[in-house]
Amino acid sequence: MSITILAIESSCDETAASVCIDGYILSNIIASQSVHEIYGGVVPELASRAHMENIVPVVENAIHSANITFSQIDAIAFTQAPGLIGSLLVGAQFAKSMAMALNKPLIAVHHMQAHVLANLIPENKPDFPFLCLTVSGGHTQIVLCESPLKMKVLGETIDDAAGEAFDKSAKLLGLPYPGGPLIDHYAATGNPNRFHFPEPQVAGLDFSFSGLKTSILYFLQNAGKSLIYKEKFLATKDERQQFIDSNLPDICASIQNRIIQILLNKLHKAVVETGVNNVCLAGGVSANKGLRTSLVNMGAERGWKTFIPDFEYCTDNAAMIAITGYYKYLANDFSDLRVTPTARAIW
Ligand code: KG4
Ligand code: ZN
Repeated sequence: MSITILAIESSCDETAASVCIDGYILSNIIASQSVHEIYGGVVPELASRAHMENIVPVVENAIHSANITFSQIDAIAFTQAPGLIGSLLVGAQFAKSMAMALNKPLIAVHHMQAHVLANLIPENKPDFPFLCLTVSGGHTQIVLCESPLKMKVLGETIDDAAGEAFDKSAKLLGLPYPGGPLIDHYAATGNPNRFHFPEPQVAGLDFSFSGLKTSILYFLQNAGKSLIYKEKFLATKDERQQFIDSNLPDICASIQNRIIQILLNKLHKAVVETGVNNVCLAGGVSANKGLRTSLVNMGAERGWKTFIPDFEYCTDNAAMIAITGYYKYLANDFSDLRVTPTARAIW
């Protein structure tokens, strides 16, 4: 008997729905919210309202594209945590209503666990155990995954996430939100070794990105006039803008290079410490072309097996919720209708 899961993701600013049958993704529909661009970040209240508008057409589209009927659905999976509470509530309430209307079980999914399991969507899946570097707008983690539902966080950021490091750097450069893809774009034609930003010294497998952001701020305020990052305001506003305009690709490539080095140095340390050399990427920042190429090259040099989800499964999507829902279904891990979303969640 085949198992059909309808999944809903609404933790931040993408309203998404997906259908999977026996772990094969049949549809993956995402409505992104452009309303936040002018604010330089996601505005929670506007995100909740946009989810309300999008959720019905997105779910209908997912069902239609998968060419199934509502009666075929065996369970409804949804993102329970972590995320923006207003956004999560829209998806959770919708999922509960569908579960009640169809009289089908509900499966609550952890968003970060789902990012990791996006690596189980393609035919070419990693063997267990594997390590996953999960890099998103809200998280940066190295996870040891022993089976689909058995995961352990080995290290994580103590301040900003890698995606925030990209987005905040982009904001300092005057680029719109989300800045990560734009830094990626400009970096492609820049020199990654032109400007040198300091590498934070953080114990163990944890990360820190807030110092990098400050050093970029001072660097720009100096408009390249001083490489001593603590000196600031050496340049006028015009000089600063001129410096950015004439060096944007090199600045982006140098920032991206440092972020990638921070991430991959810790990942390397995790491989050495655990002896696990099946290595995966996950989360929105894994869409970054520089990071993808660097991981593949590092893996080839060191004899790792590397796995990176397709672009559509890197940034927030419901296919990763569907695949997680599928494994939870197999494990009989259901939730009752009293389950509530939470903004923060421990593993
Ligand atoms: O996983 P995700 O879609 O949402 C969260 O769960 O946070 O990640 C969003 C983050 C944003 O910070 C965005 O700038 C970043 O992923 N991102 C990128 C790229 N595409 C998305 N960062 C660098 N390069 C990219 N190509
Ligand atoms: Zn995410």
